[in-house]
Amino acid sequence: MKYLYILNYNIEESEMCALEMRRVFHINPTEKYFFSEHSEDVTRSLFTKKKLEVWLEGSLEDIINEIESKELTFDGYKVEYVDVEGYEAHYKDKNDITYKVGYAILGDFKMKNPNYLFGITEIDGVYYFGLLTKNTQDWHKHDNKPHHFSTALPIRQARSIVNIAVGDNPNKSLVDPCCGVGTVLLEASNLGFRIDGFDIHYPVKEGARKNLEFYGYHTVVLRKDIQDVEGHYDTAIIDIPYGLFTHVEQETQQMIVNNARRIADELILVSNRRMIDEIERAGFELVDECSVTKATFVRYIMVCR
Ligand SMILES: C[S@@+](CC[C@H](N)C(=O)[O-])C[C@H]1O[C@@H](n2cnc3c(N)ncnc32)[C@H](O)[C@@H]1O
Repeated sequence: MKYLYILNYNIEESEMCALEMRRVFHINPTEKYFFSEHSEDVTRSLFTKKKLEVWLEGSLEDIINEIESKELTFDGYKVEYVDVEGYEAHYKDKNDITYKVGYAILGDFKMKNPNYLFGITEIDGVYYFGLLTKNTQDWHKHDNKPHHFSTALPIRQARSIVNIAVGDNPNKSLVDPCCGVGTVLLEASNLGFRIDGFDIHYPVKEGARKNLEFYGYHTVVLRKDIQDVEGHYDTAIIDIPYGLFTHVEQETQQMIVNNARRIADELILVSNRRMIDEIERAGFELVDECSVTKATFVRYIMVCR
């Protein structure tokens, strides 16, 4: 099966979106859409706005003829035109196209809360028709988490970082050993991924625990120094403690990266600077990276193996 994904991202997040798509779909998007044979929940990523499961493709006439010859029958269906940036159609043409396609389908039409939502669109002269799903933006429920922290990651970045960590393998074991109030833990838990959380500071760790509890997630978070974290994980996600660039601070950062190497095969390192030397000294190799900006704050997301 082939899927058409419609992307939505702003300029500040475009690199993060591309890194996430490279990790999850092995595609480096250059436009606001892409085709893939890989089926993903459209709400997993912030950036996949719509997903069209392509049932039929060709000219509009071919599609209508095929719908009619197959006698496609659905009760309570609706057909929507899927806008693709760069291929905008006039709204009159869109109405005409959805009307013709809808008319060819047998069964009852349902405008509000349809049982089956279909999409039709045109890219480079080829029409695509199929089942359409839309992003529910489920992560917004984490906007009102009870515990906040000045250095916490924005929810959007945490969501994308989790997807960058998991990539195309949802069975990975994850750890956030410097979890703060658990922004990453919340997104990973919401997406159903396995993750453990640790933080050295008791009140911060309690904030994470209460945030997880508030949403009914069963993810475990313990007070621990990363140096005491045991076990082995596929991937560690670390939003490194930063602030002061004193000698001690840099030594602490090196110690944290070294410990990430000890407890995980792979590290997604988030920092306000590129930490190439620390990554290499710990025995990791930087394999991919991006930067993301919010207001004037730049973060680097580094994939290390
Ligand atoms: C930048 S904050 C992480 C914020 C987190 N991503 C969030 O969204 O809330 C870094 C965290 O590392 C923790 N930390 C510092 N040194 C640590 C250590 N040695 N072991 C475990 N956690 C540590 C701090 O308590 C702090 O909560």
